Amino acid sequence: MRVIDDSRSLRETLNPLRHRGQRIALVPTMGNLHEGHLALVAEAHKHASFVVCSIFVNPMQFGPSEDLDAYPRTLEQDIARLEAAGCHALFTPGVAEMYPLGHQQHTVVSVPALSEGYCGASRPGHFDGVATVVCKLFNLVQPDTAVFGLKDYQQFLVIQRMTADLCLPIALVGVPTRREASGLAMSSRNGYLTAEEKERATALIHNLRTAADSLQAGATPAEVEARATQQLEEAGLRPDYFKVCHAQTLAPATAQDENLVILAAAWMGRTRLIDNLVLQRTRS
Ligand code: PAF
Repeated sequence: MRVIDDSRSLRETLNPLRHRGQRIALVPTMGNLHEGHLALVAEAHKHASFVVCSIFVNPMQFGPSEDLDAYPRTLEQDIARLEAAGCHALFTPGVAEMYPLGHQQHTVVSVPALSEGYCGASRPGHFDGVATVVCKLFNLVQPDTAVFGLKDYQQFLVIQRMTADLCLPIALVGVPTRREASGLAMSSRNGYLTAEEKERATALIHNLRTAADSLQAGATPAEVEARATQQLEEAGLRPDYFKVCHAQTLAPATAQDENLVILAAAWMGRTRLIDNLVLQRTRS
């Protein structure tokens, strides 16, 4: 696997492949790779003969009081995992390569509406940072396909919208969330949790599953949201939001909506966790 940290070398590596008609897939990440990321690489192999992974802890998507400095950086281990997964190239730009004038001076790609609620409301500017860096990575790599995890469901919709609005000729693939045996969604931030917190954090997926069953049984979104919020608090989490939404627009679900996603975020101690469950409401 070639490890490349500058845009020029990246282009010099990829241009000849593209001209020979090889298909390229990109897996953008912030590193500290776990099984969930490796599933994205495995998916990328299905769509292209050359797989590029990027690792860049993007300062533009972190708020001033968030965990940018503490975010786990495990490059040697990540390289070993990507090599074992058959990744062909790893792009690891530094901040100066991506934001030569600093990210505050940088052009911003902003996706309205979809970026505004849920994680966007709790993390102002977060999705502008995500859309901007992903747009840059798309322009640098010019992949045929890009693969993302669906744990970040709202992020996936934002990137889909940005790709369509900016007419980028890239097929997006979303890969279902990988989970621990306990049901906890795999996340680079799980490493912040103690064993006891990890156990308590499973309340997030348990409540998502219970909420989905209750919706199928005829409960209203307001009922399941209130119950889940209370149960998350009883389990020792601090809910940020727990919301039943239309799966494509993320508008609060109406009684007529059949394609739903339940989006959830909660704090376990000092760690903010997100998860979601997509469901097709069946009518009796
Ligand atoms: O999901 C992530 O790891 C990041 O938000 C992404 C898409 C790599 C952009 O920095």
